[in-house]
Amino acid sequence: MESVFPELTEDVIGRMGGASPRLREVMTLLVRHLHSFVREAALTQEEWSTGIEFLTRTGQMCSGNRQEFILLSDILGVSMLVDAIDHQSSSERVTDSTVLGPFYAGPQRELAKGDSILLREEDGEPLLMKGRVADASGTPIAGAKVEVWQTATNQLYDVQDENQPHGHLRATFTTDERGEYAFRSILPVSYPIPDDGPAGQLLRGLGRHPFRPAHVHFMISAPSHRKLVTHLFLKGDKYLDSDAVFGVKPSLVVQPVRQDGTLTIAHDFGLARAQDA
Ligand code: BEZ
Ligand code: FE
Repeated sequence: MESVFPELTEDVIGRMGGASPRLREVMTLLVRHLHSFVREAALTQEEWSTGIEFLTRTGQMCSGNRQEFILLSDILGVSMLVDAIDHQSSSERVTDSTVLGPFYAGPQRELAKGDSILLREEDGEPLLMKGRVADASGTPIAGAKVEVWQTATNQLYDVQDENQPHGHLRATFTTDERGEYAFRSILPVSYPIPDDGPAGQLLRGLGRHPFRPAHVHFMISAPSHRKLVTHLFLKGDKYLDSDAVFGVKPSLVVQPVRQDGTLTIAHDFGLARAQDA
């Protein structure tokens, strides 16, 4: 199929004279790869219509609290690829990043070091999370903003579940003068990403499950430093090797240990300086 209608590709690319240099660069690549894909797959009219209809339903599924295109990008590995390209650090002290996901819900209630992020009782195992935020040279960062969120034991985030109090299992902390954070929570559980729309339909078509291994989300920011978006996963989770969104990195898998009777995860984070980005 390589030879089918090559002048069409050049014609489309040739009509980008009014674009900015970056838009032209990106769109030229997109058109070349898209046309090559259509030729290589030898798409039929019917298959292309199925694709258009799938993308239409993906858009129709989106609402204020549902972003089906992010899910599609996540399950196809595009989110993690963009993340990898945009976060290449030469320092081992900078914590690996991973997907943001669709359940960060904007500014969260601010709590004091050591507080619980629960707004109601859960029957999960109590967990203490603590550690230090430092820069790439290991110097602690005081006043860093540490935003955390996770699901309840019913596998849902508060924003997915009208029975949970708004803000349950999410909060914002500020590191102390030693760069330390600490909060109380429950052991996270593995959960399925929303699979009642086109992304779920595609997962089933591909013979894949929708589960993510148990994790707690972290978003850490400090002036002059690059914002870190990451998770901590639990060692031993059965979905670590098959995360529906490919978000697991070995450095982010942690083992809780019992300290003074409480399961505890002690984990330090490293932020890159903004100009290193
Ligand atoms: C999450 O971890 O919250 C998530 C990430 C990607 C897709 C769905 C959920
Ligand atoms: Fe999550």
